Amino acid sequence: MCHVLSVSILSWKSSVSKMAEKQSSFKKLMVHEMTTDFRKAVKIETIEMCHPQKEQVCIKIKYVGVNASDINASKGRYFTTGILPYEIGFEAVGEIIEVGEGVEELKIGQSVALLKSGSYAEYVCVPAKEVFPIPEATPKYLTLLVSGLTAAISLDKAGHITAGETVLITAAAGGTGHLAVQWAKAAECHVIATCSTKEKEDMLKDLGCDRIINYKKENLAEVLAKEYPKGVDVIWETIGGQMLIDCVKNLAIKGRLLIIGGITGYKSEEKNALPKLDLSFLPEQLLMKSAAVQGFLLFYFTDCFPTYFKYLCENVQSKKLTPLVDTGLSTPEGEFVGMEGIIRGVEHLHSGKNVGKVVSRIS
Ligand SMILES: NC(=O)c1ccc[n+]([C@@H]2O[C@H](COP(=O)([O-])OP(=O)(O)OC[C@H]3O[C@@H](n4cnc5c(N)ncnc54)[C@H](OP(=O)(O)O)[C@@H]3O)[C@@H](O)[C@H]2O)c1
Repeated sequence: MCHVLSVSILSWKSSVSKMAEKQSSFKKLMVHEMTTDFRKAVKIETIEMCHPQKEQVCIKIKYVGVNASDINASKGRYFTTGILPYEIGFEAVGEIIEVGEGVEELKIGQSVALLKSGSYAEYVCVPAKEVFPIPEATPKYLTLLVSGLTAAISLDKAGHITAGETVLITAAAGGTGHLAVQWAKAAECHVIATCSTKEKEDMLKDLGCDRIINYKKENLAEVLAKEYPKGVDVIWETIGGQMLIDCVKNLAIKGRLLIIGGITGYKSEEKNALPKLDLSFLPEQLLMKSAAVQGFLLFYFTDCFPTYFKYLCENVQSKKLTPLVDTGLSTPEGEFVGMEGIIRGVEHLHSGKNVGKVVSRIS
């Protein structure tokens, strides 16, 4: 039985390899116009097949992760020379179909995850040392890249959460937020979560949130002032604008507010993503509470990636962490598939309707 299985795996692997040899071109999204209107910004291009150079691997992408900041990237706000056209997409999972000279540890058929600009493509060639081996190229492992790493590293390394503290997670039912909720619950914190729909409220209840605030039904500032008069210890803020102001004003003594994002400003065509705010009250607030406001950007924490990614994978395997994905099946057009699926996924995320991590199936 085992022999039959290994023979069939071998023949499958060699067929994958032969398929790669036959592949002459592939599809990829490229930014042609710098705008936050993602559909307008990108074009689906057909590119000549890539092959790995020395110490590189070629990956057939299976799923890609859609992120709120895709429209910051299409606007040219992130990591770009500004020379058009340029690549886009932060993360993917797939299978190695070809290895370059000098690659010893990774083999054809290995499932891998990658955090790399330009991952909105059917194939990518990347340095072997930049990929993480994973048990299978499925969406649950994809959620652990940008979203899982951001949630875990920000709460640990910047938020310094400890058992018994109150932690407020904004956009808590989103791709990154629902993992932040679980990370804070696992650390034995009291978790307050914000969201905008009944479906999201139900999801957050299932994840064990202690207080769910649907900000379309309840006023966040009023709830915090009434139910948390001592303030909140750690606030994981991704919205910006009035939400940020309400959060800062409700920090506890020695509280920490993490600026993780500011999605209310992303769609604007201004150079900067975050809207300007009157925070003249801030120095006094922080001094009198000995509190802190700190920014967090995942890509300055690359040294933590290997340890945290491994730990997140182990938590998924032991079912301590439950990633939830939004594949588009609830939308009128159905599942997000291929390059068009990515565009629809970005629009879905920015409609605020997504529940969990938005992913597009590529192959
Ligand atoms: N700093 C970093 O390194 C880093 C890394 C990853 C993500 N992030 C940030 O984390 C946040 C979440 O990102 P994500 O990719 O995981 O997205 P997401 O949470 O899956 O989706 C965005 C969610 O934001 C909420 N939202 C609130 N106001 C909105 C508005 N005006 N327009 C659209 N959505 C709005 C919506 O949920 P509800 O309104 O129902 O709550 C929506 O579902 C973003 O701010 C992102 O930039 C930062």
